Amino acid sequence: MTFKDKVVAITGAAGGIGQSLCRLFLDEGAKIAAIDKKASLEGLAADLNADAKHFAHAVADISDPHEVERAFASLTGALGPIDILVNNAGGSAHRTLACTDPAGWRQNIEGNLDSAYYCARAVIPGMLARRSGVIINIGSVNGLSALGDPAYSAAKAAMISLTRSLAQEYGPYGVRANIVLPGTVRTPLARSTARPPPPCLWRRGAT
Ligand SMILES: NC(=O)c1ccc[n+]([C@@H]2O[C@H](COP(=O)([O-])OP(=O)(O)OC[C@H]3O[C@@H](n4cnc5c(N)ncnc54)[C@H](O)[C@@H]3O)[C@@H](O)[C@H]2O)c1
Repeated sequence: MTFKDKVVAITGAAGGIGQSLCRLFLDEGAKIAAIDKKASLEGLAADLNADAKHFAHAVADISDPHEVERAFASLTGALGPIDILVNNAGGSAHRTLACTDPAGWRQNIEGNLDSAYYCARAVIPGMLARRSGVIINIGSVNGLSALGDPAYSAAKAAMISLTRSLAQEYGPYGVRANIVLPGTVRTPLARSTARPPPPCLWRRGAT
């Protein structure tokens, strides 16, 4: 019961790692504020056998700052202020630079990096007021090495810098920020990126 009654916001809660995080924190006594863009999030409380005192959810696309504001307003209304934010949502759909067009590049940066910034921005004022809070970003080994998925990797590399800035700026006020860089974890995301990339080639004049 290390986290008894702590309110833990978990983004990407309907995904592989997200569901495991929900289970782990629930087992440790926390209250879960779950966010995901997938409608399947609606069934997660029942899957986890969690009651309304310990679990609230918001279906939202967190690459949209307005949706982030709406989601956190509803979740804090249900469970109280957020003690811990786990920025876990993310993914990649562009395996090589040749397969990445400007829209795809933006999608990766918005979905993996901007979304984490928006969620941090939503919880920091409350954490500062209480002089207490934790932000955990889920990065990737892709942020350190050239492992393919270049737009995703650039976003994950930038998350390391974002984490340092959060820690530097808000650490003195009791708000800690850390990043975890997982290698391969067998989830739907890992299975989709394990397939060979499509044979995209640079084309003259391609966008
Ligand atoms: N699985 C791995 O091998 C691996 C390795 C390194 C890092 N990671 C990171 O771990 C995190 C979780 O990955 P996973 O393997 O559980 O993937 P997953 O695809 O199973 O889950 C990701 C979840 O995030 C949600 N999501 C994505 N973009 C969103 C958005 N804009 N708004 C709301 N929800 C959004 C998806 O709907 C999905 O449910 C990701 O940040 C990923 O980059 C995973």
